[in-house]
Parts: sequence; C-alpha cells; structure tokens
Amino acid sequence: MLLIHNSAELRGALSRQKQVAFVPTMGNLHAGHLHLVDMAKHHADCVVVSIFVNPLQFGHSDDLETYPRTLEADCKKLKAAGASIVFAPSVIEMYPSYDGESLQQSMFITPPPISSELCGASRPGHFEGVLTVVAKLLNLVQPDVAVFGKKDFQQLFLIKKLVNQFNFSVDVIAGDIIREVGGLAMSSRNNKLTADEKIQAMQLNLSLKKAIQAINSKPANLSEKDIRSIEEESAQSLTEEGWQVDYISIRSTITLKPALSEHGDLIVLGAATLNKTRLIDNIEFCAKPLN
Ligand code: PAF
Repeated sequence: MLLIHNSAELRGALSRQKQVAFVPTMGNLHAGHLHLVDMAKHHADCVVVSIFVNPLQFGHSDDLETYPRTLEADCKKLKAAGASIVFAPSVIEMYPSYDGESLQQSMFITPPPISSELCGASRPGHFEGVLTVVAKLLNLVQPDVAVFGKKDFQQLFLIKKLVNQFNFSVDVIAGDIIREVGGLAMSSRNNKLTADEKIQAMQLNLSLKKAIQAINSKPANLSEKDIRSIEEESAQSLTEEGWQVDYISIRSTITLKPALSEHGDLIVLGAATLNKTRLIDNIEFCAKPLN
C-alpha cells in the first residue's frame, strides 16, 4: 500500500491503473469506513482512500482543531483492509491560498437550497465545503467508482447531484450504515462518548424507529400535519431524555423534501446532541406503497 501526500505523485501512481475505486474520508477510521473500502474492492483492483480533514466544511463552532488525526493507525487498518493507495494531502496541497482562516481568491461549489435544511440549518457553509473538496478530490483521483456512506444521507444526496450536474464521469455507490450492537450508527464521534453516553446514544436510533412505527400503526392516508406531529413527538421524547434535538424529519429519499403523505420511498433522519456530542442517523423505509 502506498502512502502519498502530493497530487503529482498521486497522478503518477494512478496513471498505471485501469480501474480505480475511491473512498474519500476524513480519517479516524472505524468499521463503517472499512465496509466502504470492502465495497470499493468489488469494483476495482486499485482502491484509493483519501484522508483529509477538510477545514472548509467546519464552521466556527465546529471541532476542526480537536478533530482526531490518526494517520498511522488509519494506514494500518487500510493496509489490512486491502486498500492500494492512501492519499493524505496537507491543507496547503489542497488549498494553496489557505491562510488558516479564509480562502481568498478561491472558487467554491454553490450547493442547491436543500443544503440549508437538515444538517445545513445548523452548519452554514458545511455542504459548500464538502462539495468543493469532493469535486477537487474527484478531479485528482479520477475514479471509475466512488463510495460514500448512507449515514450522511444529505451529503450523499448532494454529492450525487454534484456528479450529475457537473458531469463527473464516476459512479457513486452508497454504503449501508454499519451499527454497533444496540443500533448506534458507527461514527468517528462515538469515540467522544463515555460508556454511559454510548448506552444513552442508542436512543437516537430508537426514536427514528418509533417514528416509523407511528406511521405504520396509523390508518392509511396520513395528512402532512399528521407526519409533522409524528416528527415533533419523536423530537419531544428525545428532548425529555436530555438531548438537544436539531431535527427529526421524515422526507422523500428521491427529493429529500418533507414527506407530505405516508406513501413512497421515505427516510426518517435525525440529528441531536448528547451532552457535547452531535450525532446523526437515518432509516430508509417504504411505509405504504402506492397502489
Ligand atoms: O464524509 C466525510 O468524511 C467527508 O464529508 C468527506 C466526504 C470525506 C469530504 O470531506
């Protein structure tokens, strides 16, 4: 496995490859990331994994400084998982004009309005940063296939749009959420939870399941108002358990717009903070198919 830090060297190593599969990450890898690497291996002999903590997608109150950087441990895991190349560029390599605070004279991808909803509502500029770095990484790696996890469903949704609207020649593949026993979605942020918090953190997944149950247990033809009150009840019960809830939202998997009825392909998404750790999760479901 090669560890490469600069783009020129990356291009050289990739020029010898026929099929390339790509897994972009910010490092601090867990079983969820390794599952994406495993999926990538089914699509190409050469699997490139990028490890880059992208400053552009962190807001002022976010945890850029304290974000865990564990390159050595990550490389060990990736070698064992069968990755071919780890691309770990510096901030200057990715953004030559970055002065530690702002990127003057730089160009960004402007995401569509849906990026200011859900996670974007509490993290202004986040998806602009994600899409800009993903566009740059896709240009650098030029993979045939790129694999992203479904835990960040809104991110995946926007990346598919980016690829489609900017004509990137890459197939985007989605990896299922990998969960701990008890349902907690794997995330680098789980490392910040104490043992007790980890147990309490299962409540987020449970509240999403309860919202789906509530939909399924009601008679057919729910109104938009009924769906919004199911969301509110789920959020309310998490608040009562001591969480600070950003949102519990039932949406269409196709448009990511709020569900107006219980029909079709739906997803319930949630984001909430337990003490100091913000967690997200989602479950896709098909409540009542259209006849
Ligand atoms: O999901 C992530 O880890 C990041 O948002 C990504 C896609 C690697 C872009 O920095």
